[in-house]
Amino acid sequence: MTKNFDQTGNCELILALDIDDRSKAIELVKRSGESLNWIKIGLQMFTKYGPEYVREISDLGKKVFLDLKLHDIPNTVAKAIASASELPIDMLTIHTCGGREMMEWAVRSQQDHKPDLQLLGVTVLTSMDDEALAGIGVNRSAAEQVFALTALASDVGLSGLVCSPHEAAKVKSIHGNQFKLVAPGIRPVGADAGDQKRIMTPRLAAEQGADFIVVGRPIYQAEDPESVVKSVLEDLR
Ligand code: C5P
Repeated sequence: MTKNFDQTGNCELILALDIDDRSKAIELVKRSGESLNWIKIGLQMFTKYGPEYVREISDLGKKVFLDLKLHDIPNTVAKAIASASELPIDMLTIHTCGGREMMEWAVRSQQDHKPDLQLLGVTVLTSMDDEALAGIGVNRSAAEQVFALTALASDVGLSGLVCSPHEAAKVKSIHGNQFKLVAPGIRPVGADAGDQKRIMTPRLAAEQGADFIVVGRPIYQAEDPESVVKSVLEDLR
């Protein structure tokens, strides 16, 4: 099957497949239709099914976003990226709070081993608010911390970021098109928000500057995932 880029204009849809049953996941990927190009594999599925599962999804003609949020000493992160580079993946995440040196090693490893791989920095997890940051000794607001880490990521030449669609416009206004922005927390009009607090529709997120949107439950919990995929892509157009 051919893998296509950019069928939706400037903003692409990524399906976050956060379910723990491999055969159901594969069935869902098949039912999601050919207009969906990207699947996000997170810690849950990767820990359970490993590299073989990544290859299986790729063999179905999908691009893979491996969301491992690497955070360790520079040498370990660089080596993990070298190992991940052997997989058919197109995006991989690291934590920007691993610091300058870790990110420099990460970028170098990605460039050495898989130049086409989009390395994305995660700034502040959306589960962390100002109080939670204070609890680990970060005495500035979550928003300030996001922009400080974004500036550091920019300095070391990271070319992608995961960020809330609410931050996307500001990141674009400061850093132009340096970063590919990947935005979770997206809900099609009328969809249940679930535990997401600061949500946005696909179109609004794209207008705010998101290059990719990540949608999980509204698609994989739907009776007819393919029709939700179609309506999200329609909204993006
Ligand atoms: O089901 P839902 O659409 O809320 O899924 C969103 C996906 O994006 C999940 O895989 C979640 O882990 C991920 N994510 C997020 N917020 C972040 C980073 C990642 O919701 N800040």
